[in-house]
Amino acid sequence: MSNAAVLIMMGSDSDLPVMEETAKVLDDFGVPFEMRISSAHRCPERTAKLASEAAGRGIQVIIAAAGMAAHLAGVVAAETTLPVIGVPMPGGALNGVDALYSTVQMPGGIPVASMAIGKAGAKNAGLFAVQILALSNPALRTQLASYKAQMVDEVEQKDQALQLKLNSK
Ligand code: RP5
Repeated sequence: MSNAAVLIMMGSDSDLPVMEETAKVLDDFGVPFEMRISSAHRCPERTAKLASEAAGRGIQVIIAAAGMAAHLAGVVAAETTLPVIGVPMPGGALNGVDALYSTVQMPGGIPVASMAIGKAGAKNAGLFAVQILALSNPALRTQLASYKAQMVDEVEQKDQALQLKLNSK
């Protein structure tokens, strides 16, 4: 049995370049995860099985990414009581707006925490999963505080660099 705390599911291997952002965040925080390709439409039974068996395997949060008529996060949420984070993928004729609506417009009773379309959403899905895990993990809480402090420093440095550039004219 794997020791993964987070299960990342995606509808297609074409979603992988975006979902690598999620993996990067989880790696940075030292959170073990699994990544699986499974489609709500192309292999519904396999998807339902992965979702319904996740909690029993020790998974605490599921992240589900899909594009176009993106039903993956909703279908996964229907099969589990674990928190499900949805990430709408860009691409297709509507470039992710279709996936955003499909992911976010869940009927009452089956919540999905929908992130933004694309790489920002994928990154935030990783961070949101870490925040959920941090509720019962003080070490992750400390890491999250450092992460935020580092962002403050980075903005400060960028502003200082800009001021130097403007004042040297
Ligand atoms: C969705 O359809 C997938 O999540 C992907 O974003 C999109 C296109 O899939 P492929 O045709 O590239 O496999 O189900």
